[in-house]
Amino acid sequence: MTTKNTLSITDNRTGKAYELPITDGTIRALDLRNIKVDEEDFGLMTYDPAFMNTASCRSAITFIDGDKGILRYRGYDIAELAEKSTHLEVSYLLMNGELPTKEALAKFENEVTHHTFLHENVKDFIDGFRYDAHPMGMLVATVGALSTFYPEAKDIRNRDNRRLQIVRLIAKMPTIAAWSYRHEVGLPYVYPDNDLGYTANFLSMMKRMAESKYQANPVLARALDVLFILHADHEQNCSTSAMRGVGSSEVDPYSAVAAAAAALYGPLHGGANEAVLRMLNEIGSLDKVPDFIARVKSGEGSRLMGFGHRVYKNYDPRAKVIKKLAYDVFEVTGKNPLIDIAVELERIALEDEYFVKRKLYPNVDFYSGLIYQAMGFPVDMFPVLFAIPRVAGWLAQWEEMLADKEQKISRPRQIYTGHDVRPYVTIDKRG
Ligand code: CMC
Repeated sequence: MTTKNTLSITDNRTGKAYELPITDGTIRALDLRNIKVDEEDFGLMTYDPAFMNTASCRSAITFIDGDKGILRYRGYDIAELAEKSTHLEVSYLLMNGELPTKEALAKFENEVTHHTFLHENVKDFIDGFRYDAHPMGMLVATVGALSTFYPEAKDIRNRDNRRLQIVRLIAKMPTIAAWSYRHEVGLPYVYPDNDLGYTANFLSMMKRMAESKYQANPVLARALDVLFILHADHEQNCSTSAMRGVGSSEVDPYSAVAAAAAALYGPLHGGANEAVLRMLNEIGSLDKVPDFIARVKSGEGSRLMGFGHRVYKNYDPRAKVIKKLAYDVFEVTGKNPLIDIAVELERIALEDEYFVKRKLYPNVDFYSGLIYQAMGFPVDMFPVLFAIPRVAGWLAQWEEMLADKEQKISRPRQIYTGHDVRPYVTIDKRG
């Protein structure tokens, strides 16, 4: 039998046959529009709530094979990048498609270092938040507010201008994040220190008190850098889709990043590591683990947070690296006692038919919160710690979208389920 890369469809409403090309394992949704009952008919659409089976773009940035547990940025395996690269090197890779040469990396690091300061008015802006405001809420608002400081960022069709805003965003996210935290706990803001690397500088802005210089423990600064690498991109997830969707209106990148960060804030996305920690605290001791698992399975309790993923139906490769990293961090900080509960939960879940059958494995959030907590970050900083590195991925995806000739303003269709036209009822006649 000769094979063809096409799909034959017979419309049983009309008896007509159609042949649609298959490219890269997909058919074009717009090809379905030609399938009509008559000339008046709008044509066939697909219905795909939550985009479970719809590719919205072509992308050369991140590859995931969820069944095999593979994650690669620009073709490089995530575990190898986590072992051998720095976060800024990976950000360059995501943005430019290639790992930087020594000179290119030094230039990029220098640029990022020299854009870490915020306009002094940003301090007043952050001061305007309530004393106990959630740092992720402050981050979302403040990054959006930066668009008012850089009105030239609107010129999104100018490549050099885009690049400048990208450097600014990567550079300023840690400063906004640290200042949001300092505001929440009532401590003075700490200015960036240009002598320090990306994560050491962030730790300095978070933790420095009266000392003239804050020297982060190098093991902890490196651990944070590895966590940043692991969180830098994850193809078309909820926040990245928000970045692309909002960015497709050609708004400036600060406003689009604010939208992406807002999407990340939710407990089913970047908020899950916070939920894991609350869950481990609630379980409290090893002997309560079997009972907790039983409640998850019966549906009486909550889900097993930090388990399961829309794409991974195998061990999340990021969780593997993080689990190992946790023990390196505990060498410095002392062991987080909750790790024993997490390991026991994982052991039982991976043997249990409920989880095995549904292919539920630990995801990136299962162990990361334990590290953040051991490093002294409060729980409400966890989504913020996800947003700082993810900005590199959002911006790489944004650049790719703008360069893609096939992309237009993002605008899904709907199936209308409401009333047909009906007469207006004046207010005195309404029941
Ligand atoms: N605990 C217990 N059961 C689960 C879990 C879980 N964590 N996750 C999925 N299931 C069950 C679910 O009840 C369903 O069972 P059934 O077929 O009997 O109804 C089945 O597995 C399929 O679940 P689903 O909700 O259809 O899967 P989804 O792809 O829509 O959801 C998910 C993915 C990540 C939202 C979900 O697994 C979840 O809620 N996990 C806990 C929250 C979490 O850890 N989120 C972090 C995700 S990774 C980082 C990120 O994206 O930001």
